Amino acid sequence: MGQQTDDKDRENILHWVKTTRAAYYATGPAAEKRANEPLQPLPSHLAVDVKKAALGEKLFNDKRLSADSTLACSGCHLYEKAGTDNSRFSEGIRKQFGDINAPTMFNAVFNVRQFWDGRAADLQEQAGGPPLNPIEMGCSGWEEIIARLSADEALTAEAGTIYADGWTVQNITDAIAEYEKTLITPNSRFDKWLSGDDAAITAEEAEGYRLFKQYRCASCHVGRSVGGQSFEYMDLKADYFAERGNPLNSDKGLMGFTGNQDDLHRFKVPNLRNVELTHPYMHDGTVTTLDESVAVMGRYLSGIPVSDGDRRLIVAFLRTLTGEFQGKTLTGTPVER
Ligand code: HEC
Ligand code: HEC
Repeated sequence: MGQQTDDKDRENILHWVKTTRAAYYATGPAAEKRANEPLQPLPSHLAVDVKKAALGEKLFNDKRLSADSTLACSGCHLYEKAGTDNSRFSEGIRKQFGDINAPTMFNAVFNVRQFWDGRAADLQEQAGGPPLNPIEMGCSGWEEIIARLSADEALTAEAGTIYADGWTVQNITDAIAEYEKTLITPNSRFDKWLSGDDAAITAEEAEGYRLFKQYRCASCHVGRSVGGQSFEYMDLKADYFAERGNPLNSDKGLMGFTGNQDDLHRFKVPNLRNVELTHPYMHDGTVTTLDESVAVMGRYLSGIPVSDGDRRLIVAFLRTLTGEFQGKTLTGTPVER
Protein backbone atom coordinates (compact mmCIF):
# COMPACT_ATOMS: atom_id res chain seq x y z
CA MET A 1 0.00 0.00 0.00
CA GLY A 2 1.49 3.36 -0.98
CA GLN A 3 2.35 6.04 1.49
CA GLN A 4 3.57 9.54 1.06
CA THR A 5 5.64 11.85 3.16
CA ASP A 6 7.16 15.07 1.97
CA ASP A 7 10.68 13.65 1.87
CA LYS A 8 9.55 10.72 -0.14
CA ASP A 9 7.71 12.64 -2.84
CA ARG A 10 10.53 12.88 -5.29
CA GLU A 11 11.90 9.45 -4.62
CA ASN A 12 8.47 7.93 -5.20
CA ILE A 13 7.94 9.76 -8.45
CA LEU A 14 11.32 8.72 -9.78
CA HIS A 15 10.71 5.16 -8.74
CA TRP A 16 7.32 5.17 -10.38
CA VAL A 17 8.69 6.63 -13.58
CA LYS A 18 11.47 4.07 -13.76
CA THR A 19 9.32 1.01 -13.14
CA THR A 20 6.41 2.02 -15.33
CA ARG A 21 8.49 3.34 -18.19
CA ALA A 22 9.70 -0.14 -18.90
CA ALA A 23 6.18 -1.58 -18.79
CA TYR A 24 4.78 1.34 -20.70
CA TYR A 25 7.02 0.99 -23.71
CA ALA A 26 5.24 -2.21 -24.60
CA THR A 27 2.19 -0.19 -25.61
CA GLY A 28 2.99 3.33 -26.12
CA PRO A 29 4.19 6.49 -27.56
CA ALA A 30 5.72 8.75 -24.87
CA ALA A 31 8.02 11.11 -26.74
CA GLU A 32 11.61 10.69 -25.61
CA LYS A 33 11.71 14.35 -24.48
CA ARG A 34 8.68 13.70 -22.19
CA ALA A 35 9.58 10.18 -21.08
CA ASN A 36 10.51 11.31 -17.56
CA GLU A 37 7.40 13.35 -16.86
CA PRO A 38 5.51 12.20 -13.74
CA LEU A 39 2.40 11.92 -15.91
CA GLN A 40 2.42 9.43 -18.76
CA PRO A 41 0.09 8.75 -21.70
CA LEU A 42 -2.67 6.18 -21.46
CA PRO A 43 -2.15 3.22 -23.77
CA SER A 44 -4.52 3.09 -26.75
CA HIS A 45 -5.82 -0.28 -25.56
CA LEU A 46 -5.03 -3.16 -23.25
CA ALA A 47 -4.94 -6.83 -24.22
CA VAL A 48 -8.31 -8.43 -23.45
CA ASP A 49 -10.11 -11.72 -23.96
CA VAL A 50 -12.68 -10.48 -26.43
CA LYS A 51 -15.38 -13.05 -25.66
CA LYS A 52 -15.18 -12.46 -21.92
CA ALA A 53 -15.22 -8.70 -22.40
CA ALA A 54 -18.32 -8.94 -24.64
CA LEU A 55 -20.12 -10.95 -21.97
CA GLY A 56 -18.87 -8.55 -19.30
CA GLU A 57 -20.28 -5.59 -21.21
CA LYS A 58 -23.72 -7.21 -21.18
CA LEU A 59 -23.47 -7.94 -17.46
CA PHE A 60 -22.30 -4.41 -16.67
CA ASN A 61 -25.51 -3.17 -18.29
CA ASP A 62 -27.77 -5.90 -16.86
CA LYS A 63 -30.38 -4.80 -14.32
CA ARG A 64 -30.88 -8.41 -13.23
CA LEU A 65 -27.80 -7.93 -11.05
CA SER A 66 -30.06 -5.90 -8.72
CA ALA A 67 -32.72 -7.33 -6.41
CA ASP A 68 -35.69 -5.64 -8.09
CA SER A 69 -34.14 -5.66 -11.59
CA THR A 70 -34.14 -1.86 -11.75
CA LEU A 71 -30.45 -1.01 -11.55
CA ALA A 72 -27.36 -2.04 -13.53
CA CYS A 73 -23.76 -1.08 -12.84
CA SER A 74 -24.18 1.47 -15.63
CA GLY A 75 -27.12 2.99 -13.73
CA CYS A 76 -24.65 4.65 -11.35
CA HIS A 77 -21.63 4.66 -13.66
CA LEU A 78 -23.21 6.30 -16.70
CA TYR A 79 -21.36 6.18 -20.01
CA GLU A 80 -22.85 9.53 -21.01
CA LYS A 81 -21.59 11.13 -17.79
CA ALA A 82 -17.98 9.98 -18.08
CA GLY A 83 -18.66 6.98 -15.84
CA THR A 84 -20.26 8.88 -12.96
CA ASP A 85 -23.78 10.04 -12.11
CA ASN A 86 -22.78 13.65 -11.36
CA SER A 87 -24.51 13.29 -7.99
CA ARG A 88 -23.07 13.82 -4.56
CA PHE A 89 -24.26 10.33 -3.53
CA SER A 90 -25.66 7.66 -5.85
CA GLU A 91 -29.19 6.37 -5.66
CA GLY A 92 -29.39 2.63 -5.07
CA ILE A 93 -32.50 0.46 -5.31
CA ARG A 94 -35.58 1.56 -3.36
CA LYS A 95 -34.36 5.16 -3.28
CA GLN A 96 -31.49 4.51 -0.89
CA PHE A 97 -28.35 6.61 -0.67
CA GLY A 98 -24.85 5.91 0.63
CA ASP A 99 -22.44 8.49 2.01
CA ILE A 100 -19.60 8.33 -0.50
CA ASN A 101 -19.23 9.76 -4.00
CA ALA A 102 -19.13 7.30 -6.93
CA PRO A 103 -15.85 7.46 -8.82
CA THR A 104 -15.81 6.72 -12.54
CA MET A 105 -15.18 3.18 -13.77
CA PHE A 106 -13.21 4.63 -16.71
CA ASN A 107 -9.49 3.91 -16.22
CA ALA A 108 -10.18 2.14 -12.90
CA VAL A 109 -8.10 -0.74 -14.26
CA PHE A 110 -5.01 1.38 -13.54
CA ASN A 111 -5.83 1.82 -9.83
CA VAL A 112 -3.52 0.12 -7.35
CA ARG A 113 -6.64 -1.11 -5.50
CA GLN A 114 -10.36 -0.37 -5.89
CA PHE A 115 -12.72 1.83 -3.82
CA TRP A 116 -11.79 5.00 -1.92
CA ASP A 117 -10.64 2.83 0.99
CA GLY A 118 -8.97 0.19 -1.17
CA ARG A 119 -11.03 -2.66 0.23
CA ALA A 120 -11.07 -4.50 -3.11
CA ALA A 121 -7.71 -5.69 -4.40
CA ASP A 122 -8.75 -5.57 -8.04
CA LEU A 123 -11.63 -5.10 -10.45
CA GLN A 124 -12.88 -8.66 -10.09
CA GLU A 125 -13.13 -8.38 -6.31
CA GLN A 126 -14.70 -4.94 -6.70
CA ALA A 127 -17.42 -6.24 -9.02
CA GLY A 128 -18.51 -8.68 -6.33
CA GLY A 129 -19.46 -5.78 -4.02
CA PRO A 130 -22.36 -3.74 -5.44
CA PRO A 131 -24.78 -6.60 -6.28
CA LEU A 132 -25.01 -7.68 -2.63
CA ASN A 133 -24.64 -4.22 -1.11
CA PRO A 134 -28.05 -3.58 0.54
CA ILE A 135 -28.15 0.11 -0.39
CA GLU A 136 -26.83 -0.38 -3.92
CA MET A 137 -28.17 -3.39 -5.86
CA GLY A 138 -29.54 -5.13 -2.77
CA CYS A 139 -29.47 -8.85 -3.71
CA SER A 140 -29.70 -11.38 -0.89
CA GLY A 141 -27.10 -13.67 -2.47
CA TRP A 142 -25.51 -14.73 -5.74
CA GLU A 143 -27.96 -17.65 -6.08
CA GLU A 144 -30.67 -15.08 -6.68
CA ILE A 145 -28.70 -13.41 -9.49
CA ILE A 146 -27.65 -16.72 -10.99
CA ALA A 147 -31.26 -17.91 -11.02
CA ARG A 148 -32.35 -14.82 -12.98
CA LEU A 149 -29.45 -15.09 -15.45
CA SER A 150 -30.02 -18.84 -15.90
CA ALA A 151 -33.54 -18.12 -17.08
CA ASP A 152 -31.98 -16.29 -20.05
CA GLU A 153 -31.14 -19.11 -22.44
CA ALA A 154 -29.17 -17.12 -25.00
CA LEU A 155 -26.98 -15.40 -22.41
CA THR A 156 -26.47 -18.65 -20.50
CA ALA A 157 -25.36 -20.37 -23.71
CA GLU A 158 -22.92 -17.52 -24.37
CA ALA A 159 -21.48 -17.80 -20.86
CA GLY A 160 -21.21 -21.59 -21.34
CA THR A 161 -18.99 -21.19 -24.39
CA ILE A 162 -16.50 -19.23 -22.24
CA TYR A 163 -16.79 -20.85 -18.82
CA ALA A 164 -17.18 -24.64 -18.55
CA ASP A 165 -18.87 -24.24 -15.16
CA GLY A 166 -21.36 -21.64 -16.41
CA TRP A 167 -22.74 -18.97 -14.05
CA THR A 168 -20.70 -18.60 -10.85
CA VAL A 169 -19.71 -15.51 -8.86
CA GLN A 170 -16.15 -15.97 -10.07
CA ASN A 171 -17.18 -16.11 -13.71
CA ILE A 172 -19.61 -13.19 -13.56
CA THR A 173 -17.07 -10.93 -11.86
CA ASP A 174 -14.26 -12.18 -14.11
CA ALA A 175 -16.23 -11.19 -17.22
CA ILE A 176 -17.09 -7.75 -15.81
CA ALA A 177 -13.46 -7.14 -14.82
CA GLU A 178 -12.29 -8.19 -18.28
CA TYR A 179 -14.76 -5.74 -19.85
CA GLU A 180 -13.54 -2.93 -17.59
CA LYS A 181 -10.08 -3.28 -19.16
CA THR A 182 -11.68 -1.80 -22.28
CA LEU A 183 -13.03 1.22 -20.36
CA ILE A 184 -10.00 3.40 -20.89
CA THR A 185 -9.88 6.88 -22.37
CA PRO A 186 -6.69 7.56 -24.36
CA ASN A 187 -5.91 10.39 -26.81
CA SER A 188 -6.68 13.38 -24.64
CA ARG A 189 -4.97 16.57 -25.77
CA PHE A 190 -2.56 16.13 -22.90
CA ASP A 191 -1.69 12.60 -24.08
CA LYS A 192 -0.97 14.01 -27.52
CA TRP A 193 1.32 16.58 -25.95
CA LEU A 194 3.07 13.84 -23.95
CA SER A 195 3.49 11.97 -27.21
CA GLY A 196 5.40 14.90 -28.64
CA ASP A 197 2.75 17.14 -30.26
CA ASP A 198 3.69 20.53 -28.78
CA ALA A 199 0.66 22.24 -30.34
CA ALA A 200 -1.86 19.88 -28.69
CA ILE A 201 -2.16 22.15 -25.64
CA THR A 202 -2.00 25.93 -25.40
CA ALA A 203 0.74 27.92 -23.70
CA GLU A 204 -1.67 28.61 -20.80
CA GLU A 205 -2.44 24.92 -20.38
CA ALA A 206 1.26 24.07 -20.48
CA GLU A 207 1.82 26.68 -17.78
CA GLY A 208 -1.00 25.05 -15.78
CA TYR A 209 0.80 21.73 -16.01
CA ARG A 210 4.04 23.36 -14.85
CA LEU A 211 2.16 24.75 -11.84
CA PHE A 212 0.54 21.34 -11.25
CA LYS A 213 4.05 20.00 -10.73
CA GLN A 214 5.26 23.07 -8.82
CA TYR A 215 2.40 22.81 -6.28
CA ARG A 216 3.32 19.16 -5.79
CA CYS A 217 0.01 17.93 -7.20
CA ALA A 218 1.92 15.45 -9.36
CA SER A 219 3.52 13.85 -6.31
CA CYS A 220 0.15 12.19 -5.64
CA HIS A 221 -1.71 12.55 -8.95
CA VAL A 222 0.88 10.65 -10.90
CA GLY A 223 1.23 8.12 -13.68
CA ARG A 224 -0.95 7.18 -16.59
CA SER A 225 -4.26 7.82 -14.85
CA VAL A 226 -3.00 10.87 -12.92
CA GLY A 227 -3.75 9.24 -9.56
CA GLY A 228 -4.99 5.93 -8.24
CA GLN A 229 -1.54 4.84 -7.07
CA SER A 230 -1.45 5.61 -3.33
CA PHE A 231 -3.49 6.44 -0.21
CA GLU A 232 -3.04 9.90 1.25
CA TYR A 233 -4.29 11.84 4.28
CA MET A 234 -7.06 14.29 3.41
CA ASP A 235 -6.00 16.25 6.50
CA LEU A 236 -2.27 16.19 5.73
CA LYS A 237 -1.68 19.95 6.13
CA ALA A 238 -4.86 21.25 7.80
CA ASP A 239 -7.89 19.76 9.53
CA TYR A 240 -10.25 19.23 6.62
CA PHE A 241 -12.76 17.29 8.70
CA ALA A 242 -13.11 19.81 11.53
CA GLU A 243 -13.43 22.65 9.04
CA ARG A 244 -16.03 20.82 6.93
CA GLY A 245 -18.12 19.53 9.88
CA ASN A 246 -20.96 16.98 9.55
CA PRO A 247 -18.94 13.77 10.06
CA LEU A 248 -19.65 10.91 7.64
CA ASN A 249 -19.03 7.24 8.19
CA SER A 250 -17.03 7.26 4.96
CA ASP A 251 -14.55 9.79 6.42
CA LYS A 252 -12.62 6.92 8.00
CA GLY A 253 -11.05 6.16 4.63
CA LEU A 254 -8.47 3.39 4.54
CA MET A 255 -8.97 2.77 8.26
CA GLY A 256 -12.48 1.54 7.48
CA PHE A 257 -10.83 -1.33 5.62
CA THR A 258 -7.61 -1.99 7.56
CA GLY A 259 -8.88 -1.12 11.05
CA ASN A 260 -5.54 0.57 11.58
CA GLN A 261 -5.73 3.93 13.41
CA ASP A 262 -2.84 5.26 11.30
CA ASP A 263 -5.04 4.89 8.25
CA LEU A 264 -7.74 7.27 9.52
CA HIS A 265 -8.64 9.86 6.85
CA ARG A 266 -6.45 8.25 4.17
CA PHE A 267 -8.09 7.94 0.78
CA LYS A 268 -7.05 6.53 -2.51
CA VAL A 269 -5.89 9.43 -4.63
CA PRO A 270 -8.58 9.81 -7.31
CA ASN A 271 -7.52 9.59 -10.91
CA LEU A 272 -7.91 12.93 -12.67
CA ARG A 273 -8.54 11.66 -16.19
CA ASN A 274 -11.72 13.33 -17.57
CA VAL A 275 -12.00 15.27 -14.32
CA GLU A 276 -13.92 18.19 -15.90
CA LEU A 277 -16.77 15.70 -16.43
CA THR A 278 -16.67 13.70 -13.17
CA HIS A 279 -18.01 16.31 -10.74
CA PRO A 280 -18.84 16.66 -7.90
CA TYR A 281 -15.49 15.98 -6.25
CA MET A 282 -13.86 14.35 -3.19
CA HIS A 283 -15.01 11.21 -1.36
CA ASP A 284 -17.75 13.28 0.28
CA GLY A 285 -18.88 14.90 -2.98
CA THR A 286 -18.91 18.32 -1.33
CA VAL A 287 -16.83 20.18 -3.90
CA THR A 288 -18.74 21.18 -7.01
CA THR A 289 -16.17 23.07 -9.08
CA LEU A 290 -12.63 22.39 -10.25
CA ASP A 291 -11.55 25.82 -9.07
CA GLU A 292 -12.58 24.93 -5.53
CA SER A 293 -10.97 21.47 -5.81
CA VAL A 294 -7.65 23.09 -6.55
CA ALA A 295 -8.10 25.51 -3.63
CA VAL A 296 -8.99 22.63 -1.29
CA MET A 297 -5.99 20.61 -2.44
CA GLY A 298 -3.68 23.58 -1.97
CA ARG A 299 -4.91 24.07 1.57
CA TYR A 300 -5.22 20.50 2.86
CA LEU A 301 -2.92 18.34 0.73
CA SER A 302 -0.13 20.46 -0.77
CA GLY A 303 -0.09 22.91 2.11
CA ILE A 304 0.58 25.78 -0.30
CA PRO A 305 -2.34 28.19 -0.93
CA VAL A 306 -2.97 28.50 -4.68
CA SER A 307 -3.55 32.05 -5.97
CA ASP A 308 -6.59 32.88 -8.14
CA GLY A 309 -4.46 33.18 -11.26
CA ASP A 310 -2.64 29.92 -10.66
CA ARG A 311 -5.92 28.11 -9.97
CA ARG A 312 -7.26 29.29 -13.30
CA LEU A 313 -4.20 27.93 -15.11
CA ILE A 314 -4.24 24.60 -13.26
CA VAL A 315 -7.94 24.16 -14.09
CA ALA A 316 -7.16 24.92 -17.74
CA PHE A 317 -4.58 22.14 -17.64
CA LEU A 318 -7.00 19.72 -15.93
CA ARG A 319 -9.44 20.24 -18.79
CA THR A 320 -6.86 18.86 -21.25
CA LEU A 321 -7.20 15.43 -19.60
CA THR A 322 -10.51 14.56 -21.28
CA GLY A 323 -9.92 11.57 -23.51
CA GLU A 324 -11.69 9.33 -25.99
CA PHE A 325 -13.77 6.22 -25.52
CA GLN A 326 -14.20 3.99 -28.55
CA GLY A 327 -12.63 6.67 -30.74
CA LYS A 328 -14.93 9.52 -29.69
CA THR A 329 -14.35 12.30 -27.18
CA LEU A 330 -15.95 11.26 -23.92
CA THR A 331 -19.36 12.83 -23.39
CA GLY A 332 -20.64 14.51 -20.26
CA THR A 333 -21.51 17.82 -18.72
CA PRO A 334 -18.37 19.89 -18.24
CA VAL A 335 -18.05 21.46 -14.81
CA GLU A 336 -18.75 25.19 -14.81
CA ARG A 337 -15.33 26.41 -13.74
C1 HEC B 1 -25.89 2.48 -6.43
C2 HEC B 1 -24.87 2.99 -7.34
C3 HEC B 1 -23.80 2.03 -7.81
C4 HEC B 1 -23.96 0.84 -8.49
C5 HEC B 1 -25.24 0.16 -8.91
C6 HEC B 1 -22.61 0.38 -8.79
N1 HEC B 1 -21.69 1.26 -8.30
FE1 HEC B 1 -19.71 1.15 -8.57
N2 HEC B 1 -19.45 2.57 -7.18
C7 HEC B 1 -20.45 3.29 -6.57
C8 HEC B 1 -19.92 4.02 -5.44
C9 HEC B 1 -20.69 4.94 -4.51
C10 HEC B 1 -18.55 3.70 -5.38
C11 HEC B 1 -17.55 4.15 -4.33
C12 HEC B 1 -17.72 3.25 -3.11
C13 HEC B 1 -16.55 3.25 -2.17
O1 HEC B 1 -15.43 3.60 -2.56
O2 HEC B 1 -16.74 2.85 -1.00
C14 HEC B 1 -18.29 2.81 -6.51
C15 HEC B 1 -17.02 2.31 -6.85
C16 HEC B 1 -16.77 1.56 -8.00
C17 HEC B 1 -15.45 1.24 -8.52
C18 HEC B 1 -14.12 1.67 -7.90
C19 HEC B 1 -13.53 2.84 -8.63
C20 HEC B 1 -12.33 3.42 -7.91
O3 HEC B 1 -11.76 4.38 -8.43
O4 HEC B 1 -11.97 2.94 -6.82
C21 HEC B 1 -15.64 0.48 -9.64
C22 HEC B 1 -14.57 -0.09 -10.54
C23 HEC B 1 -17.06 0.27 -9.78
N3 HEC B 1 -17.71 0.97 -8.78
C24 HEC B 1 -17.66 -0.55 -10.72
C25 HEC B 1 -18.98 -1.02 -10.55
C26 HEC B 1 -19.51 -2.24 -11.12
C27 HEC B 1 -18.72 -3.21 -11.98
C28 HEC B 1 -20.82 -2.33 -10.75
C29 HEC B 1 -21.82 -3.43 -11.03
C30 HEC B 1 -21.46 -4.75 -10.59
C31 HEC B 1 -21.08 -1.14 -9.95
N4 HEC B 1 -19.95 -0.40 -9.82
C32 HEC B 1 -22.34 -0.80 -9.46
C33 HEC B 1 -21.77 3.31 -6.98
C34 HEC B 1 -22.37 2.26 -7.67
C1 HEC C 1 -0.56 14.43 -0.72
C2 HEC C 1 -1.28 13.94 -1.90
C3 HEC C 1 -2.03 14.94 -2.75
C4 HEC C 1 -1.60 16.14 -3.25
C5 HEC C 1 -0.26 16.83 -3.00
C6 HEC C 1 -2.66 16.67 -4.06
N1 HEC C 1 -3.72 15.80 -4.08
FE1 HEC C 1 -5.48 16.07 -5.08
N2 HEC C 1 -6.28 14.52 -4.08
C7 HEC C 1 -5.61 13.71 -3.17
C8 HEC C 1 -6.58 12.89 -2.46
C9 HEC C 1 -6.27 11.86 -1.39
C10 HEC C 1 -7.84 13.27 -2.94
C11 HEC C 1 -9.18 12.72 -2.47
C12 HEC C 1 -9.49 13.33 -1.11
C13 HEC C 1 -10.85 13.00 -0.57
O1 HEC C 1 -11.77 12.76 -1.34
O2 HEC C 1 -11.03 12.99 0.65
C14 HEC C 1 -7.62 14.26 -3.97
C15 HEC C 1 -8.62 14.86 -4.76
C16 HEC C 1 -8.39 15.74 -5.81
C17 HEC C 1 -9.39 16.19 -6.75
C18 HEC C 1 -10.83 15.72 -6.80
C19 HEC C 1 -10.96 14.55 -7.74
C20 HEC C 1 -12.23 13.76 -7.62
O3 HEC C 1 -12.55 13.05 -8.59
O4 HEC C 1 -12.89 13.80 -6.59
C21 HEC C 1 -8.76 17.08 -7.60
C22 HEC C 1 -9.38 17.80 -8.78
C23 HEC C 1 -7.39 17.17 -7.18
N3 HEC C 1 -7.20 16.34 -6.09
C24 HEC C 1 -6.43 17.99 -7.77
C25 HEC C 1 -5.23 18.30 -7.13
C26 HEC C 1 -4.41 19.44 -7.45
C27 HEC C 1 -4.68 20.43 -8.55
C28 HEC C 1 -3.35 19.43 -6.58
C29 HEC C 1 -2.23 20.44 -6.41
C30 HEC C 1 -2.67 21.79 -6.08
C31 HEC C 1 -3.51 18.26 -5.73
N4 HEC C 1 -4.67 17.62 -6.08
C32 HEC C 1 -2.62 17.88 -4.73
C33 HEC C 1 -4.24 13.69 -2.98
C34 HEC C 1 -3.39 14.75 -3.28
